[in-house]
Amino acid sequence: MEERVVSSQKLQETEYELNLRPSRLEEYIGQEELKKKLAIFIQASKVRKEALDHVLLYGPPGLGKTTLAHIIANELGVSIRYTSGPAIDRAGDLASILTNLKEHDVLFIDEIHRLSKTVEEVLYSAMEDFALDLVLGKGPAARSVRLDLPHFTLIGATTRPGLLASPLRDRFGVLLHLDYYEPGDLAHIIYRSAKVLGIPIDPDAANEIAQRSRGTPRVANRLLKRIRDYAQVRASGEITHVIAIDALTLLNVDHFGLDQIDRRLLQSIAERYQGGPVGLETLSAVVGEETGTIEEVVEPYLLQQGFLQRTPRGRVLTLRAYQHLGIPRTGDLFEGDA
Ligand SMILES: Nc1ncnc2c1ncn2[C@@H]1O[C@H](COP(=O)(O)OP(=O)(O)OP(=O)(O)O)[C@@H](O)[C@H]1O
Ligand SMILES: [Mg+2]
Repeated sequence: MEERVVSSQKLQETEYELNLRPSRLEEYIGQEELKKKLAIFIQASKVRKEALDHVLLYGPPGLGKTTLAHIIANELGVSIRYTSGPAIDRAGDLASILTNLKEHDVLFIDEIHRLSKTVEEVLYSAMEDFALDLVLGKGPAARSVRLDLPHFTLIGATTRPGLLASPLRDRFGVLLHLDYYEPGDLAHIIYRSAKVLGIPIDPDAANEIAQRSRGTPRVANRLLKRIRDYAQVRASGEITHVIAIDALTLLNVDHFGLDQIDRRLLQSIAERYQGGPVGLETLSAVVGEETGTIEEVVEPYLLQQGFLQRTPRGRVLTLRAYQHLGIPRTGDLFEGDA
């Protein structure tokens, strides 16, 4: 996949990103409902001196799930152990992670939908009974022993909650959904990041970047970084409104935060398929992106912004998309879209 400045996918985590990560709940901008609930749960578990219930964080990439997991551990005053679904190969790996936790610690499993079945089953009793059932030996001599675990908090993160097996989902006491951010919150995040990095920025510029950040803090921070480069090379280093617009134009990021890939996707549905419906496989071939990338990264924002609709027969372009692309509509009117 060619590098996209507006991609919400994480690339290698850089020092730049780490510096921008808030570490306390009060520094975490937006998601007000979620923060309110979380603050209560955290407070209550501290008062009761119990481990926090297991938490599942779900939502599109780059909205702050990993950040939030660290904040939760921080607010609880406990250590966090970080791993991810694909990184745990065998049940034994999980067992050794679990037995090394301390009372009330947080175990963070990123991409938890990618755990293997055998590992997942070990997790069930660990989550529910804080115990591990181990089978020692082989064949007729095999016996099973139960090992007690510390009371820990599992924080799972996923961009694909639908792929989670229901026995796993049901074992989380707290389900928190992260949604795309409002431009006002994003402007606030950009402002904060600029301050952390010592970049002078105009409020108009912060709003302009926010508008084009696809509701995603990771995108906002990435755009800020690129625009800072532009401001330093082409001007005095201050990000004014004009500099922001020039830089965003150069980066090919339009008013809605769409880039060439988004526009290519929308355009090909309009021009080659009369607005759809088009299947995911076909789209993947047309724009040269993997189906997974289209489903998880490209499409959600286009759906959320109402450029695209998902129907049982495939993806369909909306009137709004035609207007945005400046293409007259030729195909049949799609019902429910006027
Ligand atoms: N509410 C927020 N306030 C301030 N900054 C935020 C907020 N949410 C996220 N960020 C910033 O956005 C970046 C991306 O967030 P994070 O890595 O937590 O996303 P994620 O949901 O874990 O993404 P992925 O699904 O790809 O793992 C972080 O570096 C952080 O600085
Ligand atoms: Mg993450």
